[in-house]
Amino acid sequence: MSKIKRIAVLTSGGDAPGMNAAIRSVVRTAVYHDLHIYGIMRGFDGLVKGDIKRLEAKDVANIIQRGGTILKTARSEAFRTPEGRKLAYEHIKANDIDGIVAIGGNGTYAGGMAFMKEYDVPFVGMPGTIDNDIFGTDYTIGFDTAINTAIEAVDKIRDTADSHNRIFFVEVMGRYSGFIALHTGIGSGAGGIFLPEIETTVDDISEILKRAVIRQKLFNIIIVAEGNPSGNATELAKKVKEVNPEFDIRVSVIGHLQRGGSPTAMDRVLASRMGHSAVRALMRGESGVALGIINDKITFTPFHDAIHKVKPLNKELVRMAEILAM
Ligand code: F6P
Repeated sequence: MSKIKRIAVLTSGGDAPGMNAAIRSVVRTAVYHDLHIYGIMRGFDGLVKGDIKRLEAKDVANIIQRGGTILKTARSEAFRTPEGRKLAYEHIKANDIDGIVAIGGNGTYAGGMAFMKEYDVPFVGMPGTIDNDIFGTDYTIGFDTAINTAIEAVDKIRDTADSHNRIFFVEVMGRYSGFIALHTGIGSGAGGIFLPEIETTVDDISEILKRAVIRQKLFNIIIVAEGNPSGNATELAKKVKEVNPEFDIRVSVIGHLQRGGSPTAMDRVLASRMGHSAVRALMRGESGVALGIINDKITFTPFHDAIHKVKPLNKELVRMAEILAM
């Protein structure tokens, strides 16, 4: 028999499509197992302020298809302080909560880890971020939707690029990691992809564009991750134009469009699987671990590794993308 009777769920950090599907799965799995389940509003901020409400199965009806998060999200400054965490603990005790499912990225796991060093409350993490940059999982919740959104946007940009024979620098999200850029670039047939992990020079880009012209490619799409070390899309486009004034260049920044929208089937199923496993993990007595999916199997990685180990880009995919771009 599990000692866990009352659990809570929160979403923290940047929102990601599929977070609602994850909340629904956590709530319904908990109800199925006769647990009381609570929703914490605005991530750790709601925990510090005691903004916690009981959830029933019906409260998560009609949300599996919705982007964003019904629990709202925030990056909590108060929870970074010992005083804030003490308040959070008092609210956990006042509600008799035995364990917490925290859905978010590395910052969310770091918050859970800091808290568990001071207080004996089990946390299980679920990777909810469009960036796909979390060690210990092949995919994060929201990534698939984000790249589908970005690819749809690039398909549209392609039409106008083609009509005008223009070069478009399209910026996608990814401050520190290039998963979104790489997958968007491959999936949209981009002529070049520039990632935070790989240094590129203006000469490299000019070279790609000139090669394309030689083989009579009249328009081009260049995908740039926002965290590209040589500059974002606007900066790179400016530098390239300075040395190649003959090119007709435009910039398009997709931005937060990538964070919204109805989750794809992949994200809904992933979120449902992870939410279900997260509750069962808490019931088994697991703590301080992050859910993941590796080769289609649910896995658990200690928070410490999930936070500190870097998930590398697949080098073969990077190379393949270069070959296909020609
Ligand atoms: O959710 C991750 C992410 O989208 C990054 O790719 C991006 O840099 C960042 O969040 C922007 O977040 P915000 O607008 O919430 O500061």
